[in-house]
Amino acid sequence: MKTEPLQRIGATHVLFQGRKLSYFAGGDYHGYNADPRLKALARDTIDKFGLSASASRSTTGNHPLYGELEFELCRFMDVESATLCGQGYAANLIFAQALQQEFDHLLVDERCHVSLRDAARLIKLPVSMYRHYDMTHLEELLKTRQGRSLIVSDSVGGMLGDMAPLTELVELALQYDARALIDESHGLGVLGSAGRGGAEAAGIDSQLCNNGTVMRTSSLGKAIGAHGGVILGGDALAEQLQKVPMLFGTATPPLPYVAVAKEVLRGLGADPSPVRRLQERAYTVKKLVSDMGFAVEVNAMPVFALSFEPRQQALAREQLLAHDIYPAAINYPGLPDRGVFKFMLSSAHSESQIEALLKALAIVSAQL
Ligand SMILES: Cc1ncc(COP(=O)(O)O)c(C=O)c1O
Repeated sequence: MKTEPLQRIGATHVLFQGRKLSYFAGGDYHGYNADPRLKALARDTIDKFGLSASASRSTTGNHPLYGELEFELCRFMDVESATLCGQGYAANLIFAQALQQEFDHLLVDERCHVSLRDAARLIKLPVSMYRHYDMTHLEELLKTRQGRSLIVSDSVGGMLGDMAPLTELVELALQYDARALIDESHGLGVLGSAGRGGAEAAGIDSQLCNNGTVMRTSSLGKAIGAHGGVILGGDALAEQLQKVPMLFGTATPPLPYVAVAKEVLRGLGADPSPVRRLQERAYTVKKLVSDMGFAVEVNAMPVFALSFEPRQQALAREQLLAHDIYPAAINYPGLPDRGVFKFMLSSAHSESQIEALLKALAIVSAQL
């Protein structure tokens, strides 16, 4: 990897060039990375069960914790089935392998996560890209397609924090007898009043998630603070997934992370107030940043990104560092060529860290 090594310190700092700086990047939306209770749970799980199941779940490696996490995921997400995978990335590829016979073509958001685009390539079916979040374009394509369509989108952009128009997307799916695959990697634990993600925030009924109209995938390595991926839907979907070769490996998430994910979901399920507080923080901060003149969508998603001309990039970096903030300059598929500075607000950031960020951005905006 060519990116510079970066060491996290606690929930909201990093060690960068010998300095402890505030960290506003990544996907640790609730700071679980540094939660002492969760770290102890991970250690205890290793002590109790060892480092690895060392066998595929389809043979002799089906540790009871896996099923317990899947049960918790079903309860939290209000769905019939949850199938664990090694990663969120793999969840999308596994979904593609399992469901390719079900469709005649795919309609894919042009800027969806690279794992969804990889999954679309893996399905040997015609793929059409529709303009990012553009439901008029999606409908034009749906109108001209014969046969069964699968619409593929993120629920929310993990880099820009822009939310997909999922209410309209699902209405179109119903109108044109299509189905949808929605990646909730950045929505899970962050959006919706119970933290179920963008589909919940968009008011999509669980029944549509169980009858196969809306199928979802997610990483467990972001707000949930663990590692792994999951495919969520109805019982019929879980049945279809059982045959996928990629699920025959040992790459189920390691047990310490399984225990952590289960505990986090149980906690957020019992008390989703951290999710709601984070959404309020997102609205407040994004409104202030937008009022400074930056192009930021003001919404409940605690992520935004700013793109600058090369000369302004140096100024932004300088001001962030002057306010003890790590300048997270990111280049990632789907972003503008010159990259962006990404900002992720977590519920673990202190008020003074947020104030420092706003001060730095105010100085940058005044000089643009
Ligand atoms: C939208 C989205 N989907 C999938 C993934 C992949 O998840 P994982 O890191 O668990 O493989 C990511 C992670 O970057 C993501 O942002």
